[in-house]
Amino acid sequence: MTKDDRFIIAGLGGAKTLQGEIVIGGAKNEALKVLAGSVLFQDGFTALNVPEIEDVHRLIELLKRLGIKVEHPEKNKYSFDTTELKEFSLPADISKKLRASIVITGPLLARFGKVIFPYPGGCVIGKRPIDLFLAGFRKMGAKITEDGENFVVEAENGHLVGAEIFSKIQSVTVTETFMMAGVLARGKTVLKNCPVEPEIVSLGEWLNECGAKITGLGTSTIIIEGGELLQGQDKIHHTLPDRIEAGSFIILGALAGKEIIVKKCRPDHLDALIAYLSEAGVEIETGPDWVKVINSGREKFTSLDVKTHEYPGFPTDLQAPFSIFLTQAEGQSYLFETIFEGRLNYFDALSRMGAKVKVLDSHRAIIDGPTPLSGREIESPDLRAGLAYVLAAIIASGQSVVHNVEYIDRGYEEIEKRLVSLGLEIKRVSGDDKNELCQCLPQN
Ligand code: EPU
Repeated sequence: MTKDDRFIIAGLGGAKTLQGEIVIGGAKNEALKVLAGSVLFQDGFTALNVPEIEDVHRLIELLKRLGIKVEHPEKNKYSFDTTELKEFSLPADISKKLRASIVITGPLLARFGKVIFPYPGGCVIGKRPIDLFLAGFRKMGAKITEDGENFVVEAENGHLVGAEIFSKIQSVTVTETFMMAGVLARGKTVLKNCPVEPEIVSLGEWLNECGAKITGLGTSTIIIEGGELLQGQDKIHHTLPDRIEAGSFIILGALAGKEIIVKKCRPDHLDALIAYLSEAGVEIETGPDWVKVINSGREKFTSLDVKTHEYPGFPTDLQAPFSIFLTQAEGQSYLFETIFEGRLNYFDALSRMGAKVKVLDSHRAIIDGPTPLSGREIESPDLRAGLAYVLAAIIASGQSVVHNVEYIDRGYEEIEKRLVSLGLEIKRVSGDDKNELCQCLPQN
């Protein structure tokens, strides 16, 4: 992967020909937090099914800089040795590229009584403030100063104290940060208005397996009894299947598949997507760990009103891929992004491809369909919108060039190889390489 990688995609022009099986990898948004949680361990642990994606690789680099030893004996398997962890200052170069770096501040502060960190980076999908983190640290007895570049957070008397923290917004990373901070705080921490994402529950269950005392997982109130450093030397963490990756391939199946089977996923984590797609007329079958999408090629999909919501509602991370589906549904669809205010930033390029879309404000849009799309040269603005562009390019007629593939690499492991296995012509090119596929395709 280099910085100017791009995908060249031969569009199917609306044909539904892709066929085969896709095996889903580990959940990005669980793996990142489990890795951040390594700071809570006295010894270390092993994690399996860790996705080999850019965000994970950046976080591992960050953990190494803190003094954690990381072994990578085979693909998707990592072992962490935390016995020499001594650094509590987050390196700016990595933290600024990774939103998940904020999650490590809680465990570091709880372990060392001090943490220094810059404003975190990540996908530009809205304001993404950190006020709730700072308020929570204060509630647990920490003082915060800013030195121009960094936040310096110090716990009074060197240790955090348990507190009751009500979050005015349901936030995934805030909940995870304070759940982990509570593990090493003195006394009881009560988190109120928590979201119930499966990744949060799985993280909590893992910490409990290693000695934490967390109750209320999967409910809006999580209670943590503070205790000692965790022990995981003989423990193995199995990362959940990534429901957003699975959902992205299910949407692909509806748009361009003859028959696509999404394997090693958790259909029970995809209820909202499956309900919406079924309502629109997509034929879906599910088994214990698979989802099959079947198309005869003559289906007509009906328009929908979709509103993103915390789990188990429709995930904001599937909003952009799903809007590509809506461009192919008959009638007018209404899209309401309720979580982030900057997540409709990909509509301009969709219009250029021929979609009839109208952005009403920073949260709402109208999509009229079905409209054939034509291949174009487009730039991914962020991870999920980048994936949406790949879907748009796949159903379009002619060739498309999708730039900024590094965004897509942040969350999807080797996506082009998996798409090739379904029968798509897609090629990654770098630098000065020509924007051409192996076969000579007409340019548009
Ligand atoms: N918020 C605040 N103040 C804060 C923190 C958050 O106002 O201090 C607001 C946000 O601006 C947003 C709302 O709270 O409007 C909810 O955002 P949340 O904090 O839940 O998002 P996040 O924790 O930053 C995680 C995932 C996102 C995913 C969201 C929602 C990670 C690393 N990121 O972000 O994943 O969209 O939850 O499910 O877990 C992605 O994978 O592409 C991605 C962006």
